[in-house]
Amino acid sequence: MDNKTVKVASRLCMTKDLGVSGNLFGGNLMAWLDEVAAIFAIQITGEDNMVTMHYSAMTFKHPVKERDIVDFYCGRIRRGSTSITFEIMGQCCGKTVFCADAVFVAIDRDGKKKKIEWDSKPLTNREENGNGQ
Ligand SMILES: CC(C)(COP(=O)(O)OP(=O)(O)OC[C@H]1O[C@@H](n2cnc3c(N)ncnc32)[C@H](O)[C@@H]1OP(=O)(O)O)[C@@H](O)C(=O)NCCC(=O)NCCS
Repeated sequence: MDNKTVKVASRLCMTKDLGVSGNLFGGNLMAWLDEVAAIFAIQITGEDNMVTMHYSAMTFKHPVKERDIVDFYCGRIRRGSTSITFEIMGQCCGKTVFCADAVFVAIDRDGKKKKIEWDSKPLTNREENGNGQ
């Protein structure tokens, strides 16, 4: 278990991202979250084909408005045999907008799960130099 979290990416909430309430549409936030989580899973494992397996329950605690920037942090990694589990958190205007556990699984060219060769993979800068947020 690695307790560090690092900022992986940020997204600007634009007019096209809003829902009928005037807040960031939840489906857009989930799409951003899944893309950022996939980037993190690929970079940490060194596997080029990782698929979303599971997300824990997600609660949207604060609205995101037009022109707000959402910062995505990932960390608290748990290494599995074919999977990686980690926390992904979104922050905006100093508040945590959501937090969830993500599970990604490595697959081969046939779409079958495969073992992650943790020992043969060099640590990425993200893992080595986590900024300890
Ligand atoms: C990814 C896939 C090949 C895995 O095959 P599978 O036979 O279902 O795999 P398993 O049930 O053995 O689970 C694989 C790993 O995920 C973990 N896992 C599975 N379900 C989980 C859950 N609900 N919560 C946490 N971890 C879970 C298992 O513990 C296992 O981890 P480990 O090997 O590190 O111990 C298959 O489920 C699949 O193709 N799913 C679709 C993925 C996809 O298309 N995602 C895109 C978004 S829909």
